[in-house]
Amino acid sequence: MTTPSKRIAILTSGGDCAGLNAVIRAVVLRAETLNWEVIGIHDGTHGLLSKPPQATVLHSGNVDTTVMRQGGTILGTTNKGDPFAYPMPDGTLRDRSEEIIAAFKNLGCEALIGIGGDGSLAILSRLARQGGFPLIGIPKTIDNDLGITEMSVGFDTAVAVATEALDRLQPTAASHDRIMILEVMGRDAGHIALTAGIAGGADVILIPEIPYDLKNIAAHIKGLSDRGRNFALVVVSEAVLTPDGQSVSHDFFGGQKRLGGIGHILGEKIAEACQAETRVTVLGHVQRGGQPSAHDRLIAAAFGVHAVNLIQEGKFDRMVAWSNRKVIDVPIADAIHHNQAVEKDGTLVQTARGLGICLG
Ligand code: F6P
Repeated sequence: MTTPSKRIAILTSGGDCAGLNAVIRAVVLRAETLNWEVIGIHDGTHGLLSKPPQATVLHSGNVDTTVMRQGGTILGTTNKGDPFAYPMPDGTLRDRSEEIIAAFKNLGCEALIGIGGDGSLAILSRLARQGGFPLIGIPKTIDNDLGITEMSVGFDTAVAVATEALDRLQPTAASHDRIMILEVMGRDAGHIALTAGIAGGADVILIPEIPYDLKNIAAHIKGLSDRGRNFALVVVSEAVLTPDGQSVSHDFFGGQKRLGGIGHILGEKIAEACQAETRVTVLGHVQRGGQPSAHDRLIAAAFGVHAVNLIQEGKFDRMVAWSNRKVIDVPIADAIHHNQAVEKDGTLVQTARGLGICLG
């Protein structure tokens, strides 16, 4: 084997999603065509805080065909432990950015490819500026809320999972004359709910971007029943507020707060308002796992190849993005400062309204 002419590093950061391994594989395969070596850093920037750093040499022998079909990330990831305010065992927060930068430099890599959402890319970008090392970002998030890119890796698979859930809920709803409520993820953006809701034939779709009124929902479901329908499908995004304007979340061990639970609250309210039986399904992390869809694998491949090409061309601090059927690249700062919520008058909202779906 010839000595590699360049060494680059890759890590996954933030919540996992389907398609991350397909990105890693694409980066490695493209790098191999250039005779470059790829170092995979484990558990996001946490791998650089371990002594010695947790990192593996990646090559087509350990990331090819099997791995790219799998969900999760072979490198591990974390959505906790901001290196600039790292939670220490004694309860204090410490800036550990210099430790991470030093460990990265010790790996002898000429550039870093970071696969992450807005939070992770903001942190990696700050680290890269402070440490003076070249960074390329690859967008991933089931929430699809990153700016500029039309699609982030993981979104399409999450939508497919939520759509399949509606396909499975519909027959049982119809068999029991029930209103089925499906709560989906998405953080503050309603993309998963709206997209899967349309694809899966929902009757009501509630997203954080559009306020709702229980009376409208009840009237819509009553209208369906007057026309002979004995069931209804309601999709609700996790950040939708309660009727009295409260956000619903769970507190987990270690002080973590995560959205979740609005489905059950609305299930009760809708049952009362419609005088009908309701059942609630909270889809949760099922949306993040499983095999990546064909489209997620496709953008993963395009993003991975383009990221390596950018390094070859000496272009840095760029995020690859999907736009008009093409892969493009934009300054990372532009993407992370432009949060992409559902457009209240966008095509999908108009489509839903055109289909007679109640949006609240
Ligand atoms: O950002 C991705 C996401 O799955 C959100 O949709 C969800 O609110 C959150 O992460 C869940 O985070 P965790 O994996 O920490 O429970």
